[in-house]
Amino acid sequence: MKAPKMHAPDSAGIAAAVDALKRGMLVGLPTETVYGLAADATDAMAVARIFAAKQRPRFNPLIAHVASSEDAMAHGVFDAHARALAEALWPGPLTLVVPRRAESAVCDLARAGLETVALRVPAHPVAREVISRLGKPIAAPSANKSGHVSATTAQHVVDDLGEAVALVLDGGPAPMGIESTIVGLTGNAPVLLRPGAIPRDRIEALLSKPLEASSVTSTIAPGMLESHYAPRAPLRLEATEVRPGEALLGFGPALPPGTMKRLNLSRDGDLVEAAANLFSHLRALDALNPTAIAVMPIPREGLGEAIRDRLARASKGR
Ligand code: TXA
Ligand code: MG
Repeated sequence: MKAPKMHAPDSAGIAAAVDALKRGMLVGLPTETVYGLAADATDAMAVARIFAAKQRPRFNPLIAHVASSEDAMAHGVFDAHARALAEALWPGPLTLVVPRRAESAVCDLARAGLETVALRVPAHPVAREVISRLGKPIAAPSANKSGHVSATTAQHVVDDLGEAVALVLDGGPAPMGIESTIVGLTGNAPVLLRPGAIPRDRIEALLSKPLEASSVTSTIAPGMLESHYAPRAPLRLEATEVRPGEALLGFGPALPPGTMKRLNLSRDGDLVEAAANLFSHLRALDALNPTAIAVMPIPREGLGEAIRDRLARASKGR
């Protein structure tokens, strides 16, 4: 029953994948490192479906896969180090974390609300073709459920995520079988955020300097991310009424009265929609300078767990 989801990466398969991505659905996509669980990175609803599918209890930032270095530079700010690595190693299994450009359309949820963006130009011909035909960046974490090993064949993707994907393009076993190397270029010194398919030596030779250890600047560690995420206004969680001066972050059909400064994560109580709106709504309410943001209760099921995790951090992270 799951088998028909696999498709050869011929022109019909690529067209079907692009069509599914355009409609906000998820696609299993071969890359040279591992298979990715792909969505249109500019579509927050589609990106929320990635987190729902992976059943990850929190929102990790995702890699935006683009067609060329030129495209990457439209989304992020590249210093001399970043440009040198991009020039030498793209297309290929290298991910660069750089400051985002304000005009980048990669959605807040794909960046988990950070002011940085992870970019990669994959070398795999199928991934490249899908990205070019879509004409947009593709958010794609490894195509496995949270806590499972990364998928290196189309069958792994179907086994792990068959219910969640519209189709999986079968490009055979992923050639490298380990994830991309991630280098952070957001501070003064380049940092190795994740060892991967490109050895550290190779990168250090290109930069003519050593990479700092990821333990020093563990941008990926949730604790470090808190300060990035926190809105200026304090959050008051599990709110059932609005107090004077507060803004309201609502959820569900019935919002308490008391303020014009209100946004609803999802009128229908849809947790995927709520996840898609979370970061942008928080930002928008914070910009109104309320004394606090009252946040209505969010259910614990499904994506509710990740939403609650994010809100709890934001409420403490100031
Ligand atoms: O080889 C790969 O990189 C595969 C293929 C599909 O491209 N993708 C992959 O994605 O491994 P994922 O989501 O499993 O791992 C991405 C890593 C995560 O550890 C995430 O925290 C980190 O990249 N990351 C993404 N954006 C970041 C950012 N702005 N700052 C710091 N870390 C970031
Ligand atoms: Mg992964």
